[in-house]
Amino acid sequence: MTINYKQHEFDVIIIGAGGAGLRAAIESARSGVKTAIITKSLLGKAHTVMAEGGCAASLQNADPRDNWKVHFHDTMKGSKWLANWKMAELHAKEAPDRVRELEQWGAVFDRTPKNLINQRNFGGHTFPRLAHVGDATGLEIIRTLQEKGIHSGIDIFMEYTVCELFKNEEGDCTGCIAYNRVDGEIHAFSAKSIVLATGGITRCWSVCSGSWEYTGDGHALALMAGAELRDMEFVQFHPTGMIWPPSVKGILVTEGVRGEGGRLLNSENERFMFNYVPEMFAGDHAETIEESDQWVKEVVSGKLATVRRPPELLTRDVVAKAINSEVKAGRGSPNGGAFLDISHRGEEAILKKLPSMHHQFKELAGVDISKEPMEVGPTAHYVMGGVRVNAETQETCVPGLFACGEVASGLHGANRLGGNSLSDLIVFGKRAGEFAAKKSKELEQPKINEKEIIKAAKKMLAPIMSENGENPGKIYDELREMMQNNVGIIRTEKEMKLALEKLDEFEERQKNTFSGSSRIYNSGWHQALDLINMILVSKAATLAALTRTESRGGHTRDDFPTPDDDYWGQTLNIISLEDGKLTIKQEEKEEMRADLKLVIKEIKDLIAKRAAEQGGD
Ligand code: FUM
Repeated sequence: MTINYKQHEFDVIIIGAGGAGLRAAIESARSGVKTAIITKSLLGKAHTVMAEGGCAASLQNADPRDNWKVHFHDTMKGSKWLANWKMAELHAKEAPDRVRELEQWGAVFDRTPKNLINQRNFGGHTFPRLAHVGDATGLEIIRTLQEKGIHSGIDIFMEYTVCELFKNEEGDCTGCIAYNRVDGEIHAFSAKSIVLATGGITRCWSVCSGSWEYTGDGHALALMAGAELRDMEFVQFHPTGMIWPPSVKGILVTEGVRGEGGRLLNSENERFMFNYVPEMFAGDHAETIEESDQWVKEVVSGKLATVRRPPELLTRDVVAKAINSEVKAGRGSPNGGAFLDISHRGEEAILKKLPSMHHQFKELAGVDISKEPMEVGPTAHYVMGGVRVNAETQETCVPGLFACGEVASGLHGANRLGGNSLSDLIVFGKRAGEFAAKKSKELEQPKINEKEIIKAAKKMLAPIMSENGENPGKIYDELREMMQNNVGIIRTEKEMKLALEKLDEFEERQKNTFSGSSRIYNSGWHQALDLINMILVSKAATLAALTRTESRGGHTRDDFPTPDDDYWGQTLNIISLEDGKLTIKQEEKEEMRADLKLVIKEIKDLIAKRAAEQGGD
């Protein structure tokens, strides 16, 4: 069989066109190197839009007491102290400049009465910190970056899926191979540096907020190229996704609803979150309904925020598990979740601050949220784990291969605070683009061996070459259902062992799929190839979850329900691929720099002092 392919040469290639990919590409092009984006989808369509409620940065507009130190503390605490503290420091320090830069590039943020960028509250953030545009912040950021990007001289390959990365004999990353989803043509790309910005893996669960692209491509490409993954057991189930009607199950209901005062209720009309405030956070949270309502009033009327806040703004892991427990106890809503009520804020405020939610529920569920509660339940939203990178440069252990945004790991540890994903992608997207470009300037254009291209192309074409076989869509659906049932919010050894057996079976079945022989927009073919990545990353997440014998952040074990601070609180799971087999090792987390330890102490003391002043403990 003759395999034809087209060839391209670039200095830097960015795979993925969400916020991180676009920001990386802008920075790379700005450095004067020949830059391309390869995106599986259409430009402007990325999971970034699902970060609706805002972008966390200590701009000090809503509360002058905020600063990078408090943001650093909140991120570390939210991560259950597993985050890479170097990344958390850079992130907290650089996020305000990156947000102001977006504004200079045309992003239209909501304003305070003094005409500054407005900031709202989100779970785990001590002060109102989320720069926002109603409830469509991710969309505005994507729009702004896209506008800036297309005027930065970047080549864009839309609707191309990358299937393999190439390396030279020295082990440096040298390029990649992709197929065009529209006409099925194969394209080989030579690149001096490659940046992975492919987003997450949540499509591996049947109830998720992610769209079809979220099949773990970057995680799998990195593993296959010899890079390492960390923290793969930590998957964030956002507490509030739509649960009715079934056709829209999983679609995100922004945390902004709770940030604007939304209350969670069970079938007995009880505001149940008061029963789930962990002892360690008791001082941070309001103890009565009146107290939390007072707090909301102060915040929404623009007065200074207090430290005490409604229990609905506990971190996402806590709220998602609480909803799960209410359902298990028989106090769930009719469709297996909880009620989220914001109607007390009135139509005018809702239309101003949460217009997309109002529209979404009206159009998709026939519910007017200014008059009646929403029905919500947890949805797989984000993976904290991902490709291990150098904190400053975002380079992986494979020279010339970089990663940023959700596909990278480190910043969020065991649990990500809402709003820290948009700031993550602009801070580390910029860094990845800058350092990838810098590296490319030192290198000659790589030559990719033709034999390797043909070998990779044959693998890509296999699902349309076989005579018959199973429909990949069937395996795809079964895999997602299996992961939902066995590696969901609450996990057990028995179920995860079963999941690993099932994943082995899916792997065998994937090798024998048939999706028709057409190359023209053949979604069955695309799905057969996506499955390779989904199976690999599902295995990585399950293996890490099975190995971590404790509960922490986005990882809850029914058989090990408490945190084990002495061992697992100090230890990371690192996964790599050796001879085609996933291997896992444990590594002690790096000790925090002395000056940052002092920062943590300073902020903890400050929060405790304020809580005491307000009558807390
Ligand atoms: O709820 C939300 O608006 C999501 C934000 C995020 O994931 O950062």
